[in-house]
Amino acid sequence: MRSKVTIQTLRDKMEKGQRITMITGYDYPMALLEERAGIDIILVGDSLGMTILGYDTTLPVTMDIMVEHAKAVRRGAPTAYVIGDMPYMSYQVSVEEAVRNAGRFMKEAGVDAVKLEGGRNVVDVIAALTKATIPVMGHLGLTPQSIAMLGGFKAQGRDIAAAEAIIEDAKAIEEAGAVSILLEAVPPEVAKVITERAKIPIISIGAGPYCHGQLLIVHDMLGFFDAFTPKFVKKYANLNKVILDALTQYKEDVENGVFPADEHCYKMQVEALTKFQAKYGK
Ligand code: KIV
Repeated sequence: MRSKVTIQTLRDKMEKGQRITMITGYDYPMALLEERAGIDIILVGDSLGMTILGYDTTLPVTMDIMVEHAKAVRRGAPTAYVIGDMPYMSYQVSVEEAVRNAGRFMKEAGVDAVKLEGGRNVVDVIAALTKATIPVMGHLGLTPQSIAMLGGFKAQGRDIAAAEAIIEDAKAIEEAGAVSILLEAVPPEVAKVITERAKIPIISIGAGPYCHGQLLIVHDMLGFFDAFTPKFVKKYANLNKVILDALTQYKEDVENGVFPADEHCYKMQVEALTKFQAKYGK
C-alpha cells in the first residue's frame, strides 16, 4: 500500500512539476477503485446531490448526507487525500456554524480537508477554519452553490473585469490560509496567471492545462451521468451502456428461464438428496 497522501505530498508534487490527480467519489465501492488506481485526492463533492440523489442542483444537500458519504469514501480509500465538500448553507450563516460543520467532517468522517465555494466573501470563514486547524480548499470560478446568482452553469472569468476578480479572489483566499484552490470553468489564460502566482496547489476542473492538477466528476468521466455533460469533460468509459446492456440481458434471461442455470444453484449432500428424492420425488 502507498503511504498516506498528505498536504506535504501535494506540495512536493507541485514543486517537482508533477501533476496532481483528483476525482470525485461518493461511496465505498468507487473509493476502493479510486484508491487502487492511485488517485491523489478524492473530493466527496456535493455534486452527489445531482449525480447520486437526482436533484437538479446541489442546494438540497445537507451536512448529514455529506458526512455519511465521506465516511464511506474514507473507509474505501484510507491513503488518498479525502476532501469533504461543505454543502449549501453549512458555512454561509455564521463563522461559528462553519467551524462546527467543518469539524464534523474532520471528526466523524476523518477527512483531510474541507472545500468551500467563494472568494473575498468567505475569507473570514477560511481564516477561522484554518485557526481551528481545519485545512481548506477554496473553490472559484463556476461555483454551483451560487447558481441562482450566476444564472446557470456557465463558464466564468471571460471578460477582463471578471477575470481580474477571480485573480484577486485567489490571492485573498490564499492569504486567508487556504491550502489549495479549485478553479472551475474559467479560461486557461486566467488559470495560468493564478497558478504562476500561487504558492499552493491549484487544481483545474475545466480551467485548462496549466494548473498543478486536474479534477473530473467521476460519473461524468465514466459515462454514468448523462443529464448533461460540460464541455470540459473527457469520457473515459460508457458505463451507462455497460450497465443497461447487463440489466436488459438479465431481464431476458429471467423471462426466458435461462437464469439461474445449474452452476448458480446450491447442491444438497449426496445421501440427503437420495433420501429427499425418495420422499418428495425428483
Ligand atoms: O461538488 C463537486 O463535485 C464540486 C465540483 C463540481 C468541483 O464541487
